Parts: sequence; C-alpha cells; structure tokens
Amino acid sequence: MSYLMSNYAPLEVTFIKGEGCYLTDTKGDQYLDGLSGVSVVGLGHCHKDITTAIQTQAGELLHTSNWYHIQHQEALAEKLCQLSNMDNAFFANSGAEANEAAIKIARLHGHANNIENPIILTANQSFHGRTMATLSATGNPKVQSGFAPLVSEFIHVDFNNIDAIKIHANNANVVAVMLEPIQGESGVIIPADDYLNQVQAICQTNDWLLILDEVQTGIGRTGKLFAYEYNDITPDVLTLAKGLGNGVPIGACLAKGKAAKLFQPGSHGSTFGGNPLVCKVALTVLEIIEKDNILNNVIQMGEYLLLSFKSRLKNSDKVVEIRGKGLMLAIELNQDCSSLLNAALNKKLLLNITGQSIRLLPPLIITKTEADIIINTVCELIDAV
Ligand SMILES: Cc1ncc(COP(=O)(O)O)c(C=O)c1O
Repeated sequence: MSYLMSNYAPLEVTFIKGEGCYLTDTKGDQYLDGLSGVSVVGLGHCHKDITTAIQTQAGELLHTSNWYHIQHQEALAEKLCQLSNMDNAFFANSGAEANEAAIKIARLHGHANNIENPIILTANQSFHGRTMATLSATGNPKVQSGFAPLVSEFIHVDFNNIDAIKIHANNANVVAVMLEPIQGESGVIIPADDYLNQVQAICQTNDWLLILDEVQTGIGRTGKLFAYEYNDITPDVLTLAKGLGNGVPIGACLAKGKAAKLFQPGSHGSTFGGNPLVCKVALTVLEIIEKDNILNNVIQMGEYLLLSFKSRLKNSDKVVEIRGKGLMLAIELNQDCSSLLNAALNKKLLLNITGQSIRLLPPLIITKTEADIIINTVCELIDAV
C-alpha cells in the first residue's frame, strides 16, 4: 500500500541515479532518457556545473524572502530580459504558477481598460497547467473533468486557425490570446510558420496581449532559446519553467511594454519564487547553453532524428505523421500505441505516449550515439506494435 495520493500512475521503475542522458534504477539497470523528465533536464542529469552551483549556493544562502532584494534573482531577471527582449520578470515555482501570473496580468490589462469581465482566448488541445485558472485555460476536457466550476472567461479556439481568432475581434471583452508556440502535451502540434505573426498582428490591432506559454518549448528545446524567435516577434507576456531550472523548481513570467507595468506592490507574490538557490541554478543553465553552444546541437540532433525517422519509417503503414522542431518530436500512428510505454521501458528507453503519438523530448546534449539508440529502438517498437 502506498501513502501517496492516486493522481499519478507511475511505471514500475524507480530511478536512483542520473548522469548525462542516462538514468540508473534500483536494480542497477541503465535507461536512456528520451523525455528529460518531460522537457526539464535539458542539460542532462547531474550536470557537473549545475551540481557545483547547487552545492556552492547551499553553502552560502538558500532562502531569504521577496521582502528583501535577492541578488541572483535580479541578475536572472536581467539576463532573461536581455535574451528575450522583454522588460521585466516575476519568478514562481512551476509552469502553472508562471501562467497564473500571466493570466492575472491579462485581467489587470482588461481592468485598466475598464473591461469588467476580461476574456482570454486560448486554444483547443492546449495545456497550461493544473491549478484552477490554468486548467480552465487548458483546452482539454479530460484535464478539467470533475473540477467544475471552472474559472470563467476563457474562450477556446482552434489552434493554427487564424480565422478562429479573428471572429472574436469585435468582442470588446477579449483582452489577450494565450498560446503555446508548439502544443507539447497534445503531441507536438506545430502551427503554420506565420501563425504566430498573424496572431500578433491581430493582438496589436485590438490591444490584446499576446501571451506565449513557453514552459515546454522554451530554454532551447526547439533549437532557439525561445520558440517565438522563429517568427521574429516578441510577445507581451512570456512564461517559462521546466528547462530553466534543469530540475530545480522555477517558473518565470516575463512581460514587455504596457504588460510590464501592471503588477504593483501587493498584486502578486510567492514565498519561494525566485529564491537564491533556484536563480543561481537558472543563471548557470543559461551560461552553459551559451558556452557549450547547446542550441547548435539541438538543431543538428533534431534534424538528424527527424530525417532519420522520416527515412526509416517512410514505408510504414502504421505511421500517420512525423513532427518535430529541434528536440521536440512526435510520431503519430494510426492506432492506439499506449502499450509502447512499457515496451520501451523493457528496451531501456524512456518516452511518452500522447494519444496515438510517440513523443520524444531527449536531453539537449544528446550525441549521435544516443540519437541512434532512440531511432533504432523506436523503429523496432513501431514494427512490433
Ligand atoms: C506548455 C505547458 N504549460 C504549462 C505546464 C505546467 O507546468 P507545471 O507542471 O510546471 O506546472 C506544462 C507542463 O507540462 C506545459 O507543457
């Protein structure tokens, strides 16, 4: 019997050690991590510089409070704003909390314009988190099931359909559009190349905030530090988490222009958010990404995986579509493939199954050796399904 609540259904394995792209279980067996803890451990497990940063910071200062200035938090805000072209940052502990901050900013934006019931447009099949506001924003009835009454004033529109957004242009209560640049949890759904540019144009015309949820796509996952850089745009609000801490819990909500001026003392806060430890680690993550030219590796390995899958699986009658940007990849099959989760585990590879898609989010540091193991194992699994 377990004393844990039943909200997770873990696979029958317990990892006790990690190094680079590999995890070791209680029996001493090694697994290739094709998921990075769901897009978190981008720089690999127990990266030595990150371990050193944690150890050093633990010996200096872990926590004070946001009632005092925090050196590393201010440095991290500056670094992130410089890298993203945003103006300021708020730090939280998770992706959902970063999105909560973004939703609150959107509501303040509405109230500043005398809109009493501000509406945020979000996408069907999106995922924004599990708190009440973020699950209400999420476009997936399964995530919302059982939790009514939901937080109101979210309208869900079809993703990658610009007309679905345009038809709300005459709704005076709309204040923001909140989107993932690539939908991660619903199986790596990549919109048309100019979709975000068009959404931004509509937002600018209507004085709506463009909120991009880069909790999963951010911090190098797609081959750019932020996925919106592919569109040469800057959102009004940007949320980050996952890869920013490489395993320590941190979320960030960055804002620009008018959106950056809405929070005032007392508007929002978090006890743990942005403490010296997590900010030191996030600063180290950003340093390593730059120093080790990680984005270059993501682009090269991402292309290698995508092209190899396309070539190896081109004659497979089970494959519907192969999608990928950087190291965010999915192979959609024409049948249920949930059994592949355990089959992959037996082959010592960690991956995820989302609907009828196999999803891969390997560490950003993978080499051709690991990429080849992933390609061979996944192709064998698909053959046998
Ligand atoms: C795009 C996106 N937003 C938000 C979240 C929620 O993040 P967290 O689980 O850290 O609250 C996730 C998590 O998978 C995500 O993929």
